[in-house]
Amino acid sequence: MASMRKLLWWVLVLLMECASFHLCIHGEPQVPCYFIFGDSLVDSGNNNNLQTLAKVNYHPYGMDFPAGPTGRFYNGLTPADIIAEHLGFEHYIPPFATASGGEILQGLNYASGSSGIRNETGRNWGANINLNKQIENHRNITSHIAGMLGSKESAYELLNKCLYSVVTGSNDYMSNYFMPQFYDTSSKYSPEQYADVLIEQYSQQLRTLYLLGARKVSIQGLLTIGCTPNATHTYERKGTICVDSMNNAAYIFNQRLKSLVNQLNHDLSDAKFVFVNIFDIPFTNTYAPGLNIEISGCCEVDINGLCIHNKGVCQDRILSSFWDGFHPSEAVNKIIAAVTYTVVLPLLYEPQ
Ligand SMILES: *[C@@H]1O[C@H](CO)[C@@H](O)[C@H](O)[C@H]1NC(C)=O
Ligand SMILES: *[C@@H]1O[C@H](CO)[C@@H](O)[C@H](O)[C@H]1NC(C)=O
Ligand SMILES: *[C@@H]1O[C@H](CO)[C@@H](O)[C@H](O)[C@H]1NC(C)=O
Repeated sequence: MASMRKLLWWVLVLLMECASFHLCIHGEPQVPCYFIFGDSLVDSGNNNNLQTLAKVNYHPYGMDFPAGPTGRFYNGLTPADIIAEHLGFEHYIPPFATASGGEILQGLNYASGSSGIRNETGRNWGANINLNKQIENHRNITSHIAGMLGSKESAYELLNKCLYSVVTGSNDYMSNYFMPQFYDTSSKYSPEQYADVLIEQYSQQLRTLYLLGARKVSIQGLLTIGCTPNATHTYERKGTICVDSMNNAAYIFNQRLKSLVNQLNHDLSDAKFVFVNIFDIPFTNTYAPGLNIEISGCCEVDINGLCIHNKGVCQDRILSSFWDGFHPSEAVNKIIAAVTYTVVLPLLYEPQ
């Protein structure tokens, strides 16, 4: 598998980077601050006090996380947690909902499960903090930082040096476009038109982040959303392993997102945006062909596709691609984090 070899190569590059330069373990972090925006793929507890079904601060979530269930949608670390480790932070970036005081100077995590680029996305689950609201929250935090550092200039000097990760868009498909019983987007737009509409809005949002001081920005594309256990158990597959219509829509979005990243680098030339491609991570070939073509998560899921409270989990969590109906396992997150870190590494040495 060429793509698997590529992944192993990335992991190797990362390990060598750590081993030879001690970048991952010692001294100051490689960036002074790390801000995270997005959905449940990186949420670390912002939904815990919201009225929503999309919150997971209960066992078995967090069973492999040192502090137990925290609202992370995994058995263990999120990709953002692992990236924070690679960057040399001594703690994970705290969730916006509960952070306070001086810790905001090292960054915050604004991500909210079920949220998306569009305001209405994910509302079938209940409340969430959509990307527009996350950016507004960040605007407030930037003024707090200016207050703490004494001036707007010193705040921007710091904010220009931070790393920013944005991980969103999956829910604009899984909890919007492909849920015609709740949302009308699929009757209004073809997959191409919908991707255009999303990218147009995403472009505005990323430009706003730039105006708020972001200069090193990592933007993650969509994974093969049609291969999630929720997708393969909910939609017609016509004999294929994954739901091809969903993967095709995600592929179209990713292509447009890649072009957007190029456009932003062109228009905002004192900033650097990178596209993180995780579409090629193979979720299906951990299963022997012909033996088991059902993609299942590791925990037993409820009608919403999330783990059932206190119910059992699979034996070998490390061998399972997915943790619940939607989210990869921590093992896959390590690959996602390695891919991301490799792509952002050059940004960390850009002078600002
Ligand atoms: C989305 O909500 C924000 C407020 O958070 C509002 O300013 C904006 O106009 C809304 N966007 C759309 C497209 O409705
Ligand atoms: C930003 O802060 C102001 C005052 O501190 C507050 O009134 C407003 O609601 C905050 N905005 C958001 C989006 O939290
Ligand atoms: C997939 O997720 C949706 C949204 O929560 C839910 O309505 C549906 O029942 C889930 N399907 C399965 C098979 O879990």
